[in-house]
Amino acid sequence: MTPRKFAPYQFLFAALAFSAVLTASAFCQENNAQEKQESERYSPILGIAPESDPFFPSRMETVTGETVPSEAFLNPERCKTCHGDIYAQWKGSMHSNSWNDPLFQALMRVASKETAGATDKFCLGCHTPVGVISGEIPPIDASSMTEVASMGVFCDFCHTISKTKGVGNLPAISEPGIVKRGPFDDFKSPFHKVQFSEVHTSAEFCGLCHNVSHPTSGLPIEQTYTEWLTGPYRDAGTPCQHCHMTPPNPPTAFTKNPGKACVMGPERDHWWTHEFVGGNAVVTELLGSKVHADHARNRLKAAAKLEIIPSDMPQRPGLFEFRVKVSNVGCGHYLPTGLTEMREMWLDVSVVDAEGNVLHHSGALDANGEIDPDAVIYHTVLGDANGNPTWKMWEAARVLNDYRIPPMGYRLERYSAYVSADAKLPLTVRAKLNYRSVAPHLVKMLLGDQAFEVPIIEMTQAELVTE
Ligand code: HEC
Ligand code: HEC
Ligand code: HEC
Ligand code: HEC
Ligand code: HEC
Repeated sequence: MTPRKFAPYQFLFAALAFSAVLTASAFCQENNAQEKQESERYSPILGIAPESDPFFPSRMETVTGETVPSEAFLNPERCKTCHGDIYAQWKGSMHSNSWNDPLFQALMRVASKETAGATDKFCLGCHTPVGVISGEIPPIDASSMTEVASMGVFCDFCHTISKTKGVGNLPAISEPGIVKRGPFDDFKSPFHKVQFSEVHTSAEFCGLCHNVSHPTSGLPIEQTYTEWLTGPYRDAGTPCQHCHMTPPNPPTAFTKNPGKACVMGPERDHWWTHEFVGGNAVVTELLGSKVHADHARNRLKAAAKLEIIPSDMPQRPGLFEFRVKVSNVGCGHYLPTGLTEMREMWLDVSVVDAEGNVLHHSGALDANGEIDPDAVIYHTVLGDANGNPTWKMWEAARVLNDYRIPPMGYRLERYSAYVSADAKLPLTVRAKLNYRSVAPHLVKMLLGDQAFEVPIIEMTQAELVTE
């Protein structure tokens, strides 16, 4: 009933930033056209890796340009001895799950199959960076993978990044070794050297991975960093860390966290926490952390506000019209953000009369748990080369629809209910904003027997009784 608007295509500059990569791959395609046809790794969608780049299509680099053995990275268990609190926060986060995550594993396998492996190093570059840096993976069956690489996005990967070259698809130089880089410049550690690194204190650091573009077309797919960069939180001096690396109450603003960042370190005014909680209350719990799942639910509940704005009661019979205002009050980026071709956030709105008769209902679930097609739903729809909708990001050639709520912004949705002459007043309008990490049919398709239940999280609600 509510028209879906097509948001303007906004992230052009991110695509431009990618032109270097595009040119490199276009060049390679021209020179190797013949070989490519014969290569097993040929993919009409992604092209093949330039011979000289062991990490392509990931943009990651090492100092030598060669792979680095995974032994160069220390297991998080080693850091735990001295940084026990930080370890406990990271363990169970989506960063610690980024390789083990069954949803990631399933989608990555489909991508690999459909592109003859051309997406492998792309997906794995962010989800198991050390697996790709060491050349242990692919093969994607993980048969050559060491334990440390399976730790996902972990301490010694993040803290040994020595340089960045922009954002998106991980344009970082990984330099594992004795120097750990972070926010402090005033203390020594007996175990490793510490070095102040400005980039670690900025949103750009998160933007290394929290901007995902199609590696050959440059199409922006996940753009959390760009959404932040072009929004009001950047101007207010509130980087990602202020909301995602401070104690979870409240989850939408900076909270000071005094104490020790290391058992043998000094008392500090503030150190950064490492739960990295977003909206994922499913995989966190599935892989054993109820704490992270609870924090994700609380965060979602703090993200938005709803308001029902009625018009005057019409002559009966007639149409009672009202609007629902959905405001993004807590996110430094669009709501929702990230993998928004899979996420579902929608309005469930009903109108009942004084006798409980339902005059209107939008946003209910059908018997299979799928959302009413007429509901207002906030997400993105990717399109393939033929303009058909697709949830396969590697097929994406355009964004068909981007209907979400910008940071500190809102959307007004129009509704109406037919009020017959004998309907009993007053009417009660109820609106709920729901969030679900992924639609049930997609989980079934990707995981088959292993499919898990995806809970619906009620983010917020509003109720109005007419005069
Ligand atoms: C996704 C990357 C990432 C991962 C994974 C990560 N950290 Fe951090 N860590 C950061 C960033 C970024 C900061 C600084 C934030 C700032 O200054 O705004 C930080 C800060 C720190 C600090 C300085 C004290 C503080 O908390 O402010 C220590 C010590 C630290 N991390 C240790 C660890 C350990 C140990 C692990 C693994 C258990 C870990 N980190 C995992 C990104 C990461
Ligand atoms: C033997 C104890 C010990 C171990 C083990 C240890 N650290 Fe540290 N680390 C320290 C101390 C002490 C500090 C300084 C804390 C402070 O200044 O508050 C520190 C500081 C840090 C910082 C802050 C650097 C900066 O410039 O801001 C990072 C990052 C860090 N450690 C990462 C790690 C990682 C990653 C591991 C595991 C590979 C690890 N540490 C293992 C003792 C240790
Ligand atoms: C090396 C790449 C990398 C870097 C750098 C990185 N992340 Fe992530 N992050 C990921 C990946 C991959 C996931 C998703 C894992 C999954 O869902 O399987 C993730 C997940 C998250 C989530 C959880 C999302 C959810 O759905 O609940 C949050 C929050 C987050 N990151 C915040 C940050 C912040 C803040 C920073 C900067 C301090 C940062 N990340 C830096 C790769 C990275
Ligand atoms: C003003 C606070 C705030 C800032 C700043 C902020 N976030 Fe968030 N973020 C939130 C809230 C609240 C949510 C939960 C709602 C949601 O999941 O969309 C969230 C959710 C997320 C998610 C999970 C999205 C999903 O539903 O799958 C990721 C990933 C994320 N943030 C990354 C980032 C990164 C990267 C930055 C910086 C570029 C950042 N955030 C800046 C508050 C913030
Ligand atoms: C540039 C880094 C990057 C690349 C490349 C990347 N991802 Fe991710 N991925 C992320 C981040 C960051 C998130 C978290 C966003 C969010 O929570 O919405 C994520 C989340 C996901 C999720 C959601 C998991 C969950 O539990 O909800 C899936 C599935 C996924 N990625 C699959 C893939 C596949 C398949 C590829 C390759 C075609 C890929 N990713 C490539 C960074 C990356």
